[in-house]
Amino acid sequence: MLWLKAFHVIFMVTWFAGLFYLPRLYVYHSVTADEPGKQRFRVMERKLFVMMTVGATLTAVFGVAMLIAAPGYMKLPWMHAKLTLVIALLAYHIWCYRLLAAFRQDANQHSERWYRLFNEVPSLLLIAIVILVIVKPM
Ligand code: HEM
Repeated sequence: MLWLKAFHVIFMVTWFAGLFYLPRLYVYHSVTADEPGKQRFRVMERKLFVMMTVGATLTAVFGVAMLIAAPGYMKLPWMHAKLTLVIALLAYHIWCYRLLAAFRQDANQHSERWYRLFNEVPSLLLIAIVILVIVKPM
């Protein structure tokens, strides 16, 4: 169980590195006008997205493995709240992919300021999820 938890947290950090940095790349990409600059961002975004998708997958694999090893967790309200927020995080991840696809086709529709606000969402989800799993307030 402790090994599963250790790898769960390790891959969660990998996932969040991408969730924090990819939207930050979008902030700079959205104000880049020259074609070589845009192309460089596209390559960085694609590689980062692959890395964070590996992180997301392995976080989920080790998380689900813990639930299988200790099914009693599913009776606890904080785990239900946590999994609801994880679904929101996965939706954010998919949204990141859609934005990446728009940038790839040079069809971005959002401003730099919009990306700065979008970039704050994973921080809020991280704070809420960590409080739920550590403090277990419910
Ligand atoms: C499919 C997704 C996930 C599942 C099924 C899952 C499941 C679990 C389970 C069963 C535990 C053990 C809880 C305990 O011992 O108290 C755990 C621990 C933990 N999870 Fe997740 N989790 C998922 C995603 C996440 C995400 C996205 C984060 C971060 C934002 C996260 C952060 C943590 C942390 C920090 C711990 C360690 C808590 C401690 O120190 O005891 N998990 N997770």
